[in-house]
Amino acid sequence: MNELDTLVDEAKVAFSKAGTPADLENVKAQYLGKSGRITELMKGMAQLSVEEKKTRGAAVNVAKQAVEAALNARRQALADAELDIQLKAEALDVTLPGRRRQAGGLHPVSRTMERIEQIFGSMGFDVADGPEIESDWYSFTSLNNPPNHPARSMQDTFYVDMKGDDGIPYNLRPHTSPMQVRYAHQHIKKHADLVKAGGTMPEIRVIAPGRTYRVDSDATHSPMFHQCEGLWLGENVSFKDLKVVFTDFCRTFFESDDLVLRFRPSFFPFTEPSAEIDIQFQSGPLAGRWLEVAGSGQVHPQVVRNMGLDPERHIGFAFGMGPDRLTMLRYGVNDLRLFFDGDIRFLRQFQ
Ligand code: DAH
Repeated sequence: MNELDTLVDEAKVAFSKAGTPADLENVKAQYLGKSGRITELMKGMAQLSVEEKKTRGAAVNVAKQAVEAALNARRQALADAELDIQLKAEALDVTLPGRRRQAGGLHPVSRTMERIEQIFGSMGFDVADGPEIESDWYSFTSLNNPPNHPARSMQDTFYVDMKGDDGIPYNLRPHTSPMQVRYAHQHIKKHADLVKAGGTMPEIRVIAPGRTYRVDSDATHSPMFHQCEGLWLGENVSFKDLKVVFTDFCRTFFESDDLVLRFRPSFFPFTEPSAEIDIQFQSGPLAGRWLEVAGSGQVHPQVVRNMGLDPERHIGFAFGMGPDRLTMLRYGVNDLRLFFDGDIRFLRQFQ
């Protein structure tokens, strides 16, 4: 092996020992730098004859190219190794199971509300919404329940630190019944032009679902609960119509004809006569028990007057039911508070 081949071999070994790009550049200097060994060989040719320069020059050039090739190969190898390390460090484990997107769902009471709206909607009832902070007049007086009337204690509620025009504080509505008078006012206004032009005002047929409040808290009462008011006022709407409509509603809601209704005489200031509506399933886990689901009655003439209508011409029925109660019965839940605790393990069962 001649001296040039040995030099090339030494360079290759030295390059392969360099573990980092910086090391490699230092080693390169020893061969190809200003006073590197290859460079010195080139310089040394100055003294040679023209003929010798040709052969020697060609040989040195071959050696120089071999060293440069070895250098470049090592540079590439080091760069590849570095990239490899980086790729490994940043690797994504694509075999990890993905995080599933969790679909939300409706609260069981919201489902009940939607169901109520859908069923009454199919019977031609409008759906109305109203304020939860209500005036004393709408919550009580307009419903034939004046200040100091003992019937007010049936609906003790919370009061807001703000007084209405009558000097009485606003309340958190204890029932959805104020919507009877509110909606009637809206309805009359809406059809005022028609009536002025000699037309007849369409019947009032509406439900008003929403949140209600009372000073009450136990397994079947919550300070915040839900109600759904119903009102049908026309020329000749009777208690018979209430029975038909409400029976139809219950059987559709519970998807069962195997249930009977009882209209039990009761008292509400805003209806005369008044009745509590009880239902009884004829089969299933709740069979045989009477379960109260609503208050109802023929709208009291004074309430019709407060609506701005003539009780001689506009008669009909109203009812107020408890969607929370209906939800408990439908799903067989016996503690109302579970619905409002927000425990996802409980709520998930209804999806
Ligand atoms: N507002 C009554 C309550 O909360 C329920 C009720 C009874 C509503 C009779 C009515 C009705 O519309 O006619 O106890």
